[in-house]
Amino acid sequence: MSQLNLFDLSGRVAVITGGGGLLASEHAIALSAHGAKIILADFQLDKCKETAEVLAKDGVEVKAMFCDVTKKESWQKLLEDVMAEFGKVDILINNAGFTNQSKSANFDASFENFPLKDWNAIMNVNLTGTFLGCQVIGKHMVENNKGSIINLSLIYGFDGTNCCKSKINCNLLFLGRAFVPASLLCNYF
Ligand SMILES: NC(=O)c1ccc[n+]([C@@H]2O[C@H](COP(=O)([O-])OP(=O)(O)OC[C@H]3O[C@@H](n4cnc5c(N)ncnc54)[C@H](O)[C@@H]3O)[C@@H](O)[C@H]2O)c1
Repeated sequence: MSQLNLFDLSGRVAVITGGGGLLASEHAIALSAHGAKIILADFQLDKCKETAEVLAKDGVEVKAMFCDVTKKESWQKLLEDVMAEFGKVDILINNAGFTNQSKSANFDASFENFPLKDWNAIMNVNLTGTFLGCQVIGKHMVENNKGSIINLSLIYGFDGTNCCKSKINCNLLFLGRAFVPASLLCNYF
C-alpha cells in the first residue's frame, strides 16, 4: 500500500458535530480532500446549512443535519437520518463545543462568581455531548466492527484549567479500552 493510500477515505462517511462553527469546515475540507462524504450536524441548523452551501460550492460532498448533542434521542435521530441517506457512519468528529463564541455563558466571571447554570451548560455540551456521541455512534461502529472517533479537546484541557476538556482526555483512555475488541480508533485532539 502506498503512503497516499493510507489516507484514502473514498466512500467513507464522516459526521462532524458543531457543523456551523469555526473549525468544522476545516475538518470537512481535510476529510473531503481524501474522499470522505461529510455530514455537518448542529443545533443551529441554519448556520450549519450556510457552511454546507459554501463547502458544496468548493466541491465538498456535504449535507447539513440537525443534532442537539446534549440529547440522546437527538443523536439517535441523527444516526437514523444518516443511515437513511448514506447507510453507515465511518468517522465521528465530536467537535460541538460550548466555547467563548457561545454568548449565553458569562466567561468573564471570576471563578468564585462563575454561575452554576453556565457551568452546567458547558458540561452538558462539552462532556455529556461527547459521551452521548461516543455511545450512540460508537454502538453503530461496534456493530460494523469498524470506525474512528475523534474528540476535540482543548490545550487548556491538559493543564486542568478547562475542567470538562480534561475529563474528555481522561474518558478517552476509558473509551480506548472499551472499543478495543471492536477495533475502533478513538483519539482526541
Ligand atoms: N484543541 C484546541 O486547542 C482547540 C482550540 C479551539 C477549539 N477547540 C475545540 O474545537 C471545537 C470547535 O471549536 P470552534 O472554535 O469551531 O467553536 P465554535 O464556537 O465556532 O463552534 C461550536 C459549534 O458547536 C455548536 N453547538 C453548541 N452547542 C451544541 C449542541 N448542544 N448541539 C449541537 N451543536 C452545538 C454551536 O452551534 C457551534 O456551531 C470545540 O469543541 C472547541 O473546544 C479546540
